[in-house]
Amino acid sequence: MKHLILSTLVVSSLLAIDGEKVYEKACASCHVKMISKKETLKKLGTLKAPPMIEVSNQLKGNIKIVDDIDDMIHRGVVVAFIKDYVINPDVESSMCHAMALEKFGVMPSQKGKLTDEELDAVAKWVYDYYIGKKF
Ligand code: HEC
Repeated sequence: MKHLILSTLVVSSLLAIDGEKVYEKACASCHVKMISKKETLKKLGTLKAPPMIEVSNQLKGNIKIVDDIDDMIHRGVVVAFIKDYVINPDVESSMCHAMALEKFGVMPSQKGKLTDEELDAVAKWVYDYYIGKKF
């Protein structure tokens, strides 16, 4: 029995999807991972989308919850927004600056390109990776 539990643990940790790898595969071609605001302004002409650090920080700031007593609840709501946006992007729900939207256009839907597990892992990575990192 002990053996069985152990091997189940090993298997599930092997199967755990690395959100950063999903980012590299599915998002990095458009969203730069780390860049300063100053560099962003300099390179604006070559960027295809807002840098991921900006996306992450902006969503965390814009999504406010009444009774925001629990960070995990905030994380859950932001992660849910990201998961939904990747599949159903649209002007109405985008929290991007109007100028950025005009420049980049609305993000193309990534529907069918990610498994549910990959989508979940990458959305959590977008939240977690940038905690404490300033844009
Ligand atoms: C083909 C280019 C492209 C790819 C690939 C792409 N994005 Fe985007 N994304 C954009 C653009 C352009 C915007 C800005 C316009 C908008 O908000 O729709 C954007 C906006 C977003 C936003 C919304 C930000 C806001 O403030 O509302 C999120 C969240 C996001 N992307 C996450 C992702 C994730 C996660 C992936 C990978 C799974 C990804 N994107 C892949 C182009 C891309």
